[in-house]
Amino acid sequence: MNNSKDGLYEKLNTYSDGDMYPFHMPGHKRNMPRIKSAYDYDITEIDGFDNLHHARGILRESMDMAAGFYGTKKTYYLVNGSTCGLLSAISAVTEYGDKIIMARNCHKAVYNAVYLNNLKAAYVYPRPVEDTSILGGIHPKDVEKAIEENPDAKAVVITSPTYEGVVSYVQAIARVVHEKGMLLIVDEAHGAHFSMSGYFPKSALECGADIVIQSVHKTLPSLTQTALLHICGELIDEAKVERYLSIYQSSSPSYVLMSSIDNCVREIIRKGPLGFIDYEGMLTEFREKMNNLTQLKLLDKKILGKAGCYDLDMGKLVIQVKSITYTGQDLYNELLSKYHIQLEMAARDYVIAMTSLNDTKDGFDRLYEALFNIDRDIRIKEGYGQAEGLMHIKPLDEGAVSILEKPAVTCMDIREAINSKKEEVEFSSSSGRIAAEYVYLYPPGVPVIVPGQMIEKVVIDYLLDCKAKGLQVQGQEDDELMNIVVIKENWKEFSYGKNILPDGEKLIGEGYHV
Ligand SMILES: Cc1ncc(COP(=O)(O)O)c(C=O)c1O
Repeated sequence: MNNSKDGLYEKLNTYSDGDMYPFHMPGHKRNMPRIKSAYDYDITEIDGFDNLHHARGILRESMDMAAGFYGTKKTYYLVNGSTCGLLSAISAVTEYGDKIIMARNCHKAVYNAVYLNNLKAAYVYPRPVEDTSILGGIHPKDVEKAIEENPDAKAVVITSPTYEGVVSYVQAIARVVHEKGMLLIVDEAHGAHFSMSGYFPKSALECGADIVIQSVHKTLPSLTQTALLHICGELIDEAKVERYLSIYQSSSPSYVLMSSIDNCVREIIRKGPLGFIDYEGMLTEFREKMNNLTQLKLLDKKILGKAGCYDLDMGKLVIQVKSITYTGQDLYNELLSKYHIQLEMAARDYVIAMTSLNDTKDGFDRLYEALFNIDRDIRIKEGYGQAEGLMHIKPLDEGAVSILEKPAVTCMDIREAINSKKEEVEFSSSSGRIAAEYVYLYPPGVPVIVPGQMIEKVVIDYLLDCKAKGLQVQGQEDDELMNIVVIKENWKEFSYGKNILPDGEKLIGEGYHV
């Protein structure tokens, strides 16, 4: 409970006056030319300012400008994040009850689209990157296999890049998907800066995807919640996408947010690739200096060609902790409390610092100095001679690497499971039960357990271990995940065909009961 007299506004004011450096989104890094107050720009659909849901004037011109720049058939400005873009894209390419093939490491917005449209989901699993606890890309061969096994699927949805910056071979995936008459949606939420210069990976826009969704707020200088949905090529029904965008977006889209996207796109067009040169220089210098450290190692392009990793976003600083006694969470906490550096996220044995072209040399220097000190302290504490520069590789634990890569046993579709008869049981003894809720590991907010999935012991052990290490593991009903909601005992034997529940109750509609 916050007992302070200050409201959120005062708290933000104090925070923005402080010395905390942001290695997290949004990509403007609170480092923008000073403008008037947001209240000065906050209007509604008054004369002369167009309407996002029926754009014919200044917003149409701005979105057409963006489409011209990105080389797309149509580009839409989004004010409810990539989340509404994913919901709209998936809804637009499927009918209620259809099947899609999706990467198991998709964001929860994709799972929510599956739920809302009662889709059957067939999963493609990312491959683990050897000697790390990081998931790699989606391999085109795995997509091909999933398509062979699910020829009735309408579309394939993948996340590229991942939160860690791993880019899949989208061109090859698009080829395989289109050969079979399916559509490809790429969640490029973390790649809005791709293709902006040769330093960054090629965007899925250039690789044959049919719909690409990008969060401009994550890696470009734009306000939180701003995103883009791009339609590429001729296979997508634009009217259907627009219908769903008007369902999943506010009917009062913020002009503050829309002007932020307009401003961001204009600036990027104006500056061109040269606008990224200073940023690239700072990244190169930082990455070179990090080679001096022994306990903290940056994920780099050595992973390419393995585990479905086709390219890597060098703007994502994934700092791996090789110590046995010091975790990713420890690193995150120490940077925050001692060095006033706020990172994007902590995993068990790595952290992510997000960068953008609005970062400063001072910011990169502060981060490097802090990491240098921490690296030295770990070495001293763990008894390694500084001069020797030995690196202790933490023994990899099976759960950490492969929890999302291991095909889970799916017993029910997501919507069916969520709408079933449920009960709550102790999480630690839920092995063998069928989940009726999601369990998320934050960040990146990817569900480790999905409704309808059999809960296996290895997953329980992994999540309890994450919890013990201070990571945020969250069930939907119980923030602490002491308990989990599962399908009521015997429900799994119930056959929908018979329309009778195990205890004789009557089924109403789809999985609802009295
Ligand atoms: C991979 C991925 N996709 C989609 C989203 C949702 O994006 P937004 O926050 O813009 O709605 C996120 C958010 O973190 C994400 O990491």
